[in-house]
Amino acid sequence: MSIDPPGNKPRRAGGAAALRLTGLLCVAMTGPAALGADDARLATDAVSVTEVTRGRTLFAANCAHCHADDASGDEGPDLRGIRKSDERIRQVVLAGIAGEMPAFGKKLSAADTRALADFLRSLPRPAGDDK
Ligand code: HEC
Repeated sequence: MSIDPPGNKPRRAGGAAALRLTGLLCVAMTGPAALGADDARLATDAVSVTEVTRGRTLFAANCAHCHADDASGDEGPDLRGIRKSDERIRQVVLAGIAGEMPAFGKKLSAADTRALADFLRSLPRPAGDDK
């Protein structure tokens, strides 16, 4: 009669292997090359997060009463995940659309329209949208 069930030994061996693997992963993840890549990515994200936040504030103040707070559309169309170029968005916002949308050329700068575009692109596109 054995006290240890036969399955115990392989399980212990598996645990040891998993521990060794975890150790290897830790070394890989804290390696200098991996850290460098992460730092670069974090720096890029920080810039765009600032722009998206600025764009959200501009949108709430100037656009939300027609396009809704979350840009899902009301009087104006749904703008979530818009595929128009930054240049095209700049033109529409600064010049307006006759009889449809006011011009913001006296109020907003080209940099403001880029922040607005960054904000709109940061929103999840509705399913099945092909704009
Ligand atoms: C008075 C209401 C109103 C306001 C305020 C307004 N819009 Fe619009 N916007 C519209 C309408 C209506 C249209 C659709 C016009 C059309 O299709 O001819 C439109 C269209 C657009 C389009 C073109 C969308 C496309 O896919 O062709 C963009 C981009 C846009 N608006 C962005 C903005 C932004 C950014 C702001 C704030 C700075 C803003 N709008 C403020 C009413 C408004």
